Amino acid sequence: MSALVPKHIAIIMDGNGRWAQARGYPRFYGHLRGSNRVKEIVREARRLGVSALTLYAFSTENWKRPEEELSVLWKTLKKYVHRQIKDMKKNGIRLHVIGEIERLPTDVRDELKRAMNELKDGNQMILTFALSYGGRAEIIQAATQFAKDCMNGIATPESLNEKKFEEYLWTSPLGENSDVDLLIRTSGEKRISNYLLWQASYAEFDFPELNWPDYSVEEFHKSLENFKNRKRRFGAV
Ligand code: IPE
Ligand code: IPE
Ligand code: MG
Repeated sequence: MSALVPKHIAIIMDGNGRWAQARGYPRFYGHLRGSNRVKEIVREARRLGVSALTLYAFSTENWKRPEEELSVLWKTLKKYVHRQIKDMKKNGIRLHVIGEIERLPTDVRDELKRAMNELKDGNQMILTFALSYGGRAEIIQAATQFAKDCMNGIATPESLNEKKFEEYLWTSPLGENSDVDLLIRTSGEKRISNYLLWQASYAEFDFPELNWPDYSVEEFHKSLENFKNRKRRFGAV
């Protein structure tokens, strides 16, 4: 694998609603079309040798959306996972989810659990869906867990360092790949919207001016090309 291929890519799949509305469709139709892109990008990331792909599919703030839209989003996700299991297994993909999973509808949670179990031996790429995810919530739950471990004598405050803290984050199964190398947000918005606040400390950013349903494999290659030309200094000269 080329060192120029990012090890961990995180994507904020944004602009489904605008894509649909611009074409006179209801917003939910954009989510349906968007799920086809997920399939293509996952496949291509795996083919290129990316180690971790983390997709923002639902933020803690997205619960504020109308009930009908939420229902389509969850149905689409459930269907996606159900339909892709076989293909993911064949391609050695391991599935992981981060976020307040207990808030998800039971049937969606069950489907995800089943898929994660089925794909647990995948060793080619770890695909993570961020669902009911918030970066601040993730950090708070990590701090809470750590405090509890200290109270129970499992950890000591002095033992805490960045590496140790990462063991408490939802992304801990990503291990050495948990730092995001490239963060892509579609739709032209240039904000992080509470995504991977800890893990994206030194991420390179790419903001394609396309809505997610228009983000093709060809556009993904452009994002990767941009990444190749970045000089990552990590604070050094
Ligand atoms: C991204 O598209 C998908 C989710 C947030 C679930 P949006 O639904 O945010 O689409 P826009 O940004 O309103 O166009
Ligand atoms: C961020 O997009 C979350 C996802 C893409 C899943 P939003 O569309 O919810 O974010 P804002 O409201 O534009 O910041
Ligand atoms: Mg949006």
